[in-house]
Amino acid sequence: MVDTFAPPARRALNAHTVLKTTGLLWFLVAVIGQWLFAYYVIAAYAPETLSGSWERWDETGLIQGFTVDDLIGNLAFISHTLLTAVICIGGTMQLMPPVRKRFPALHRWTGRTYLTVGAFMAIGGIWMIWGRGSRLTEIGGWGTTINGLMALVTIAVAFYFAKRRKIDRHRRWAMRTFILLSGVWFTRLGYMAWAILTGGAGMSRSLDGPFDIFIAFGSYLLPLAVLELYFLASDSRSGGIKLATSGVMLAATAATALGVFGAWSMMWSPHV
Ligand code: HEM
Repeated sequence: MVDTFAPPARRALNAHTVLKTTGLLWFLVAVIGQWLFAYYVIAAYAPETLSGSWERWDETGLIQGFTVDDLIGNLAFISHTLLTAVICIGGTMQLMPPVRKRFPALHRWTGRTYLTVGAFMAIGGIWMIWGRGSRLTEIGGWGTTINGLMALVTIAVAFYFAKRRKIDRHRRWAMRTFILLSGVWFTRLGYMAWAILTGGAGMSRSLDGPFDIFIAFGSYLLPLAVLELYFLASDSRSGGIKLATSGVMLAATAATALGVFGAWSMMWSPHV
């Protein structure tokens, strides 16, 4: 609760606590959603992969997935897909302050693994889009490609600042990387939350409706804009900016929770 009669400095301090609490709330919902995504991927793809029934990968409704006589492409697809577990579990663990503070060696090793696997997934994903033809529309392909290219840039900068022990700057670039490597996850949440709220307005079966085009880029640019706003509000001395941003964080938390609920109940749990 913010005390409106308190002196400005204390009011800003209280507002800062509200901001941090709403940020944490969003993160907790994101952790649940990312772990559910990882669980779905392992449950849906690992048994088929280990038993050799690779053609069954496509039962989840993929763009391309399994292709006869394309061993390299199939291996690229399944390594990309199964590594989701490393990205979702590793990424969320990296951002948990208690893990960072109490186990710095673990943080360093998970961090190196996360950033390296993230780069591998971005490069592999871009190759699948343009080298293998795994795209439903050109614009959708470009949306995901730009997502991957931006992730490669933030991964390099996060590595750079970690090596130079510029911890605050490293932390911010690692958080940008987390958002960008969650682009594919946000896409699924975005579709589901929007479908629940509007009944599918602007979506088309051929994925070229206004909402489809928006989500191709908005899936990562919108969360990135919210993160930048959060950084700006954290640095600001204005209690008003902090409180307004806390409101945005609450709205983001509600949208993420709705998206996780929709994705789990309609997209992921039927394949688990
Ligand atoms: C940022 C760069 C990325 C690009 C360009 C990219 C691209 C792609 C493409 C083209 C496919 C479709 C393959 C097909 O249907 O044949 C795909 C599938 C998939 N990707 Fe990525 N990806 C990227 C990052 C990620 C990340 C970071 C994750 C995990 C958090 C991920 C998880 C998945 C999963 C699980 C599938 C299988 C589809 C499903 O079951 O939902 N991707 N990706």
